[in-house]
Amino acid sequence: MAMLLLCCRALMVALALLMLGVAELGSASHHVRFLAPSGSQLSASAAVAALPQPYRASFHFQPPDNWMNDPNGPMFYKGYYHLFYQWNPYAAVWGNITWGHAVSTDMIRWHILDLALLPDQWYDQYGCWSGSATFLNGKPVLLYTGWSNVSFSRDNQVQMQAMAIAVNYSDPLLRQWTKIPQNPILTAPDGINSTKFRDPTTGWLGKDDKWRMIVGAKRKHRGLAILYRSSDFVQWEKAKHPLHSVARTGMWECPDFYPMLASASRNGIDTSVTGPHVKHVLKVSLDDTKHDYYAVGTYVTGNDSFIPTNAKLDAGLGLRYDYGKYYASKTFFDDNKGRRILLGWVNESSIESADIAKNWSSMQGFPRIVWLDAENSERILQWPIDEIKSLYKQKNTLESMRLDIGPVVKVKTTNGAQLDIEVDFALPELKQAEKLEVNASSAQQLCSERASSRSGLVGPFGLLVLASEDQSEQTAVFFYIVSDGRGSWNALVCSDQSRSSLSTDPDKTAYGSFIPVFGNETTMSLRVLVDHSIVETFAQGGKVCITSRVYPTKAINEEAQVYVFNNGSVPIQLKKLTAWEMETVDIGPF
Ligand SMILES: *[C@@H]1O[C@H](CO)[C@@H](O)[C@H](O)[C@H]1NC(C)=O
Ligand SMILES: *[C@@H]1O[C@H](CO)[C@@H](O)[C@H](O)[C@H]1NC(C)=O
Ligand SMILES: *[C@@H]1O[C@H](CO)[C@@H](O)[C@H](O)[C@H]1NC(C)=O
Ligand SMILES: *[C@@H]1O[C@H](CO)[C@@H](O)[C@H](O)[C@H]1NC(C)=O
Ligand SMILES: *[C@@H]1O[C@H](CO)[C@@H](O)[C@H](O)[C@H]1NC(C)=O
Ligand SMILES: *[C@@H]1O[C@H](CO)[C@@H](O)[C@H](O)[C@H]1NC(C)=O
Ligand SMILES: *[C@@H]1O[C@H](CO)[C@@H](O)[C@H](O)[C@H]1NC(C)=O
Ligand SMILES: *[C@@H]1O[C@H](CO)[C@@H](O)[C@H](O)[C@H]1NC(C)=O
Ligand SMILES: *[C@@H]1O[C@H](CO)[C@@H](O)[C@H](O)[C@H]1NC(C)=O
Ligand SMILES: *[C@@H]1O[C@H](CO)[C@@H](O)[C@H](O)[C@H]1NC(C)=O
Repeated sequence: MAMLLLCCRALMVALALLMLGVAELGSASHHVRFLAPSGSQLSASAAVAALPQPYRASFHFQPPDNWMNDPNGPMFYKGYYHLFYQWNPYAAVWGNITWGHAVSTDMIRWHILDLALLPDQWYDQYGCWSGSATFLNGKPVLLYTGWSNVSFSRDNQVQMQAMAIAVNYSDPLLRQWTKIPQNPILTAPDGINSTKFRDPTTGWLGKDDKWRMIVGAKRKHRGLAILYRSSDFVQWEKAKHPLHSVARTGMWECPDFYPMLASASRNGIDTSVTGPHVKHVLKVSLDDTKHDYYAVGTYVTGNDSFIPTNAKLDAGLGLRYDYGKYYASKTFFDDNKGRRILLGWVNESSIESADIAKNWSSMQGFPRIVWLDAENSERILQWPIDEIKSLYKQKNTLESMRLDIGPVVKVKTTNGAQLDIEVDFALPELKQAEKLEVNASSAQQLCSERASSRSGLVGPFGLLVLASEDQSEQTAVFFYIVSDGRGSWNALVCSDQSRSSLSTDPDKTAYGSFIPVFGNETTMSLRVLVDHSIVETFAQGGKVCITSRVYPTKAINEEAQVYVFNNGSVPIQLKKLTAWEMETVDIGPF
């Protein structure tokens, strides 16, 4: 029976390779599973359910237990969205990294499948690290980084790029994956330390019919996106120049490179699209600071290089996807709905022993659609996918009212721990705004100094979420508008964790950034997704996003409240607030 299965499996693999048009790969090597894949993953959910779990999310993706980090190879195939994720089958701390696999039809109601990739080869014996999916002739293949132990590895290689293909492309769930015998397909090039060579991107096809992809690396302290070209996706040749590099940004992890319509349409385009109607985005995850930075620019196809529109806002120097906890993110083109989707890893902010006690760590940010900002083509906008509306239950609203300094206004809810809140404030009178210089390096600090707990001039005004009745616990999401004294204004956008929990363990930072405000604007808006221990903020239509992880001790479940506040001397007009209560998604086995 085993022999029969093996023979058929080999046949299926050969067939799959043929269908992919991948030439002469031969039969796949024996696939040994030394980790128990689904058993531990699924049975544990019952064990976790028995623990008091006030911090588990209700509509953000989380495996039933253990450690998760980066999203990998997201894609849409034959009616299903696929999400792979870095997952430790053994513990709620990082280690033994495999590719977990989940599918859904809406990127919300996920079902967990068997592990897609696990360490079972010499080149990945210590872990199957991050990577991407690319469609070859309509069939997805995976590129990932294998991590090996030097003493066991060939030529002392530590991080190597490898490829896996689905065993049965007729299966819309793509349940089984197999590693190709040519692996590793890439080892570190000369001059690159093989401990600094990882995270292959989705490939894109050039006009010369050659595939391209980049791998993150560093040389001295310069971050690099090393470019490779291939005719068959298996044999890769390093280009003379990297696609891009930036001095003093350190190791670039999880690079992502994709086109967007220059017209600032919300429609997404396939990763291989180029031309004058297109701008490109290069995103890099800085290992040194653990933040995801992006730059908008031009992809010069003639010499395969990326040139940022604004050199001051180059990758790793300028704009961030998110000013809170958000890392190792990845986009994909969703050809089901013609849009580009961004997913990102949202780490815990608690101490490791707390993760071990609750038996899990991390969630994925709510899927976001991304497109260019029509007002400022150096920036992208981000917004939760529309599918979120399928979770809406009760609607709670506040209509037009004037907010004066001091008293908070309660938003009536039945479960303030699972909400999608949108609030619009009228642009206040700016003349009295505090004169204060704000820039990228000072914004976060100013968010603590001008916190909601202090009275100001134009603000702070905004929301208190996951707040206890007495507000001794509260996460304040607010604006504070300042003047540069030369007729321009900036709004600090802050997500303040300093009073989020009575417990002293978690991160108490007030995260923040800023947005220019023009006198001709009419509205200051916030959209905030509240989900037990995650608060995702989208300010001014997605110009600035901030994700926080918070661990209230009193403001949990039905005890969690929402308030609107203004602690500035200038009155603020609330135009409208809507707080949708959200359904709980049951993430279980398929
Ligand atoms: C935590 O998860 C592990 C691995 O799935 C499981 O064996 C264990 O029973 C869980 N512990 C608790 C306390 O739920
Ligand atoms: C990794 O797996 C091995 C078993 O193969 C186990 O002994 C070890 O504790 C695990 N490490 C982590 C960090 O989970
Ligand atoms: C690599 O393997 C050797 C031999 O099994 C072991 O002694 C060493 O600790 C391992 N190195 C790492 C970094 O895990
Ligand atoms: C491949 O997947 C299809 C669709 O799920 C299924 O009908 C077929 O039996 C599978 N083939 C094998 C060899 O498992
Ligand atoms: C490569 O990096 C590792 C880990 O940072 C370091 O221990 C090692 O010395 C480096 N090797 C070389 C040749 O620089
Ligand atoms: C690629 O071409 C562009 C436009 O001609 C030029 O600005 C850039 O310096 C070139 N890059 C490399 C690495 O040759
Ligand atoms: C994850 O969170 C822990 C605890 O706050 C922190 O030490 C670590 O640097 C974070 N890692 C990333 C990638 O954000
Ligand atoms: C940023 O603003 C602060 C004051 O808020 C100032 O001290 C600092 O020099 C500024 N930094 C830059 C790079 O302009
Ligand atoms: C507003 O500021 C005062 C101090 O001026 C503080 O006591 C109060 O708690 C603040 N209100 C909010 C909602 O934080
Ligand atoms: C608002 O003013 C800014 C700065 O003067 C200008 O760039 C922008 O186009 C104006 N927007 C509208 C909608 O008029």
